[in-house]
Amino acid sequence: MHLLILNGPNLNLLGLREPDIYGKGSYADLCGMIQSHATERNITVECKQSNHEGVLVEWIQDAYGNADGIVFNPGAYTHTSIALLDALKAVGIPCVEVHISDVNEREPFRQISYVALYAEKRIIGQGLNGYLEAMDYLIDKYN
Ligand code: DQA
Repeated sequence: MHLLILNGPNLNLLGLREPDIYGKGSYADLCGMIQSHATERNITVECKQSNHEGVLVEWIQDAYGNADGIVFNPGAYTHTSIALLDALKAVGIPCVEVHISDVNEREPFRQISYVALYAEKRIIGQGLNGYLEAMDYLIDKYN
């Protein structure tokens, strides 16, 4: 099984960015945790991050025929991007939406998610461990 772990804008700044909300772990720490978990669960993963909506769209398109699942934290594009929703619908790859913070307890605009209209599961407010939980869900359901 091969999973694409996709992160949107500003998630490259984990550790530096509002640590009271997103924690002290860096993006490199996150990728390390994901890689170790993939090895433990005997699957392969690819971690990608972009600050650009169109790049994320292209990576979702490229995942067609290559990835068995997508773990996706679209960052702020969660709340705005119909293009990302359409890309997910186009490729039809099972997707789990992840948010490090509890978006439901924050500003009202963070409670809208276009990606949620496609994602089969949402993991919210579990910190970096949410990504591992999302991987486990996809592995246990589809492996
Ligand atoms: C986030 C929540 C979003 O509202 C925010 O724009 C992010 C990170 C999270 O992981 O909690 O960039 O997706």
